[in-house]
Amino acid sequence: MPSSVMTTSRPGNDRQPPAAVSTVGLRKSYGDKTVLDGIDLHIPTGTVFALLGPNGAGKTTAVQILSTLISADGGQAQVAGHDLATSPDGVRAAIGVTGQFSAVDGLITGEENMLLMADLHHLPKREGRRVAAALLERFDLTDAAKKPASTYSGGMKRRLDIAMTLVGSPRIIFLDEPTTGLDPRARHNMWGIIRELVTDGVTVFLTTQYLDEADELADRIAVLNDGKIAAEGSAEELKRLIPGGHIRLRFTDPDAYQSAALSLREAHRDDEALALQIPSAGSQRELRSILDWLDSVGIEADELTVHTPDLDDVFFALTGGAGVPTQPNQPKEEAR
Ligand SMILES: Nc1ncnc2c1ncn2[C@@H]1O[C@H](COP(=O)(O)OP(=O)(O)OP(=O)(O)O)[C@@H](O)[C@H]1O
Ligand SMILES: [Mg+2]
Repeated sequence: MPSSVMTTSRPGNDRQPPAAVSTVGLRKSYGDKTVLDGIDLHIPTGTVFALLGPNGAGKTTAVQILSTLISADGGQAQVAGHDLATSPDGVRAAIGVTGQFSAVDGLITGEENMLLMADLHHLPKREGRRVAAALLERFDLTDAAKKPASTYSGGMKRRLDIAMTLVGSPRIIFLDEPTTGLDPRARHNMWGIIRELVTDGVTVFLTTQYLDEADELADRIAVLNDGKIAAEGSAEELKRLIPGGHIRLRFTDPDAYQSAALSLREAHRDDEALALQIPSAGSQRELRSILDWLDSVGIEADELTVHTPDLDDVFFALTGGAGVPTQPNQPKEEAR
């Protein structure tokens, strides 16, 4: 991965909100395997940050370092204004962590799991019971509260996991793949919960395998690959980094397809599907120009679809090892 690829713009003013998380040159190796090779992050307070990357990229490692569970080999990091190296207790007091693998104890009930967390946070008994009951209610677990957690479904366990994380009212929460394994409805519910947290001013650091999740939730997204941040920006900024937008014309009449292919030479041909792909950002002007051209040459396409790059395209381009364009896709003025 060329290191010339690039962070996209960051608001360039001096009045950025204070960072919830900031790191400079964070490094971590296991044996001779470099997992994090100099990671710089700046996550403003009250925002959602999504860390994407293929399996083994180092997402969990980053979460573990920033939540003081393991130490970095090099670099600096501040979380909630506390230095990770010199004030880990300050960091711990400000954060909550929901790990990739559940921290729920299956042998005890959901309620007991919550009360255990309240004890760990040194909440007085009554206060602990009040907080536990309120969170169980908020996460729709009141009915199941007295049942052993081992009897919960995956989604219920995940909700309990996050409820447990919130017992200490953390200002920053780390969610390592919060929705992996959840059904679509449970995922959407989880997104709702995450949005509510942000409305309350909480900063969310999230890792995910689901690009639509990052697209949906995150203010800023970083793609981790080969130990480095391969790209960082809003979903829109990342999508602009890569080509992939095109207009697709599909034909049922092979003659019409051939005529169109002959005159639209820059189009990518799919002879089997009788389809042509024309690089395009999908603007109204480009669409009109293609439609006018089809009319003028008397060719009728049976289907016209506009494809804009999505985060999947970004992910594959940045993590596929196939090299990355250093320039955003330049939309063509004319499609003919
Ligand atoms: N305790 C450890 N000892 C040795 N190697 C480790 C250890 N923890 C992680 N690794 C290695 O570090 C790399 C990054 O692992 P990590 O769990 O951070 O990846 P990840 O991005 O979270 O992956 P996934 O998407 O599968 O959760 C992997 O190659 C992993 O094998
Ligand atoms: Mg992981």
